[in-house]
Amino acid sequence: MSPASNGRDPEGERSKGRLVVISNRVALPKESRAGGLAAAMQSALSETGGLWFGWSGRIVTPGSRELREQRDGNIEYALLDLTRAEYDAYYLGFANRTLWPLLHFQPNLVDYSREQHAGYLEVNKLFAQRLAPLLRKRDRVWVHDYHLIPLASELRKLGVEAPIGFFLHIPLPPAQLLNTLPGHEELFSTFGDYDLVGLQTKDDVRALHDYLREECGAKVERDGRVRMRDGRTFRSAAFPISIDTERVAKQAASAVRSAASERLRGSLEGRDLAIGIDRLDYSKGLPKRFEAFGRFLGTHPNWRAKVSFLQIAPPSRQEVPEYRELRTRLERMAGAINGRYAEPDWVPIRYVNRSFQHNTLAGFCRMSKLALVTPLRDGMNLVAKEYVAAQAPHDPGVLVLSHFAGAARELDSALCINPYDIDELVAAIERGLTMPLPERRERWQAMFDYLKEHDITAWRKAFLAALAQAMR
Ligand code: F6P
Repeated sequence: MSPASNGRDPEGERSKGRLVVISNRVALPKESRAGGLAAAMQSALSETGGLWFGWSGRIVTPGSRELREQRDGNIEYALLDLTRAEYDAYYLGFANRTLWPLLHFQPNLVDYSREQHAGYLEVNKLFAQRLAPLLRKRDRVWVHDYHLIPLASELRKLGVEAPIGFFLHIPLPPAQLLNTLPGHEELFSTFGDYDLVGLQTKDDVRALHDYLREECGAKVERDGRVRMRDGRTFRSAAFPISIDTERVAKQAASAVRSAASERLRGSLEGRDLAIGIDRLDYSKGLPKRFEAFGRFLGTHPNWRAKVSFLQIAPPSRQEVPEYRELRTRLERMAGAINGRYAEPDWVPIRYVNRSFQHNTLAGFCRMSKLALVTPLRDGMNLVAKEYVAAQAPHDPGVLVLSHFAGAARELDSALCINPYDIDELVAAIERGLTMPLPERRERWQAMFDYLKEHDITAWRKAFLAALAQAMR
């Protein structure tokens, strides 16, 4: 939808110059790849138009690298190929075996190597070299996520003076964890080359400030302005990412009558449905969720054959050993729980390792009485927000939400639980499935009203307004 057609954009948005978004993963038109970041950015960019620069998703032999440029409506794409060595060191290695577990509070899973660290820096340099010539005067640059923390530094070295903002989609742990990373100060002090650093929650902002004060000798003003030891300054604040609430609500209302939804409904034969939708990732708390559902059936025999749990978990990062191990573990757990409780005509856990179109999922959410969003740690978790947006106002379902998802800071009318406490999770499943309609409506209405106001458009505008202000 264009700014002109939805009327929600301030006049003159386009006259401010292009929005240039950089992220590792890019959502190409009609592609349904896993990940909330790409979907959110597609929504944001389709309103402003602009350039989206990132990895093409292709791995090529050295010497055959290309920068692929294409256009879809008001979005231009510039997509860069990576070589196998770059992909291994930068994406599989430092980004997803070092930064990902560390920033998700799991230092035990960190696998650090200097070689991978160097590969990460090299790819950031490469991104900067290929992006810099595409930038125009008055462009605003918006860098996304942990893959690209040093990108502003590399762009500044090439003489780029444009406003550059950074948004971290994942959590930021306390300084005592961040400082276990070899070379942490060098990496995190590159935040000083941004004009604005955005994080998901106030907790993340506090962690950033504490770290920069304690480890980098920075000064932090009350308004979030950070002054690094060498004099560079930037602003920092929380910008909780969101969804296109009205669009998801509309999609769900129509998708609930789609053929896919009808097939799912028919297969339930009148039983209740609980749903989980997550990338297959150890941060999502899936083994504890499966364990809780198994324990629920064990301790609540009256619910056997009355409710099915559909877990959709598209695999990602399968070249990383911890992700493969998780997959094997979940297959065993689902098999064991199903073997124990299934009936000839009922399977307790429907475990599906594939991705679906966004609107199909919205339809599935609308017909689910309960959603289990129970990550051990999550920057935001947009599934929690989408589940709320997808509900039927006259008969909404119940959201069970981990305290450790950023979304819990906003969706406090959900049934908030500690995902490490299986018994608490079991009690929440029971409470959600038996919650009276007036309570369900009241809780849902509070969350839906909040999400209508705090949607993806509000998020994008808040970030870009703060970036403009940081420049002044
Ligand atoms: O939101 C966090 C994130 O890591 C994004 O940066 C990423 O695009 C998404 O999850 C999916 O992960 P991946 O791109 O590694 O499949």
